[in-house]
Amino acid sequence: MTTPRTAARTAPIPSDAPAPAAPAAPRGRFLSLEGIDGAGKSSHVESIEAHLRAHGLAVTRTREPGGTPLAEQLRELFLHRPMDALTEALLVFAARRDHVAQVIAPALARQATVLCDRFTDATFAYQGGGRGFDVTVLAHLQDWVQQGLQPDLTLWFDLPAAIAAERRSAARTPDRFEHQDMAFFERVSSAYRARAEAEPQRFARIHAQASPRAVAAQVAAVLESRGW
Ligand code: TYD
Repeated sequence: MTTPRTAARTAPIPSDAPAPAAPAAPRGRFLSLEGIDGAGKSSHVESIEAHLRAHGLAVTRTREPGGTPLAEQLRELFLHRPMDALTEALLVFAARRDHVAQVIAPALARQATVLCDRFTDATFAYQGGGRGFDVTVLAHLQDWVQQGLQPDLTLWFDLPAAIAAERRSAARTPDRFEHQDMAFFERVSSAYRARAEAEPQRFARIHAQASPRAVAAQVAAVLESRGW
């Protein structure tokens, strides 16, 4: 059915009719980076921020777990204290709740572009896939904490677990997750793959095995082709 737009625009509005609701202001866009430890996403975050700024966007760059003073404190506990899987899930969502409320939602509301190093896909991949924690519970926590908020685009740095392990061992002192065995990272990787396949319009897979320069070129091509 076609809408008689002109007629609707010129029709008189009865004086007692409620004022038409103002259209909701568009929010900024939300870009997240994901991948197993050692996949190299953190080394590209700066060039991604530069790409976005070069396109005239105001960028709020942040990370998870963390991004606020409280969430950074929770991150320290999360990465270094032993705890069971439910505590781990509750802690990461508590940090996320503070981060969304204090940083992400306000930035999106002022139309900034949010660039976040990891978000909830990491929880489904690490706690759900890696630890085998109940994904139904994770989905409930996600609903409570995010109220429907999701990244608009997620760059998934995909690298075989064995190669990521080599890169990690050369690079840094491991935290609680980086201590996990290869089977753990295989499960994390599979969970990321399943999520990317389930939501191809949100995810873009980056072949992270390539050289840093080739990875940067892939990232730039994805951002351009998706209109960022
Ligand atoms: P990250 O900041 O990428 O580590 P680094 O600074 O060492 O590169 O992520 C910290 C770790 O936390 C990483 O091993 C993944 C894990 N993690 C989860 O297990 N669940 C989550 O929801 C998030 C966000 C991270």
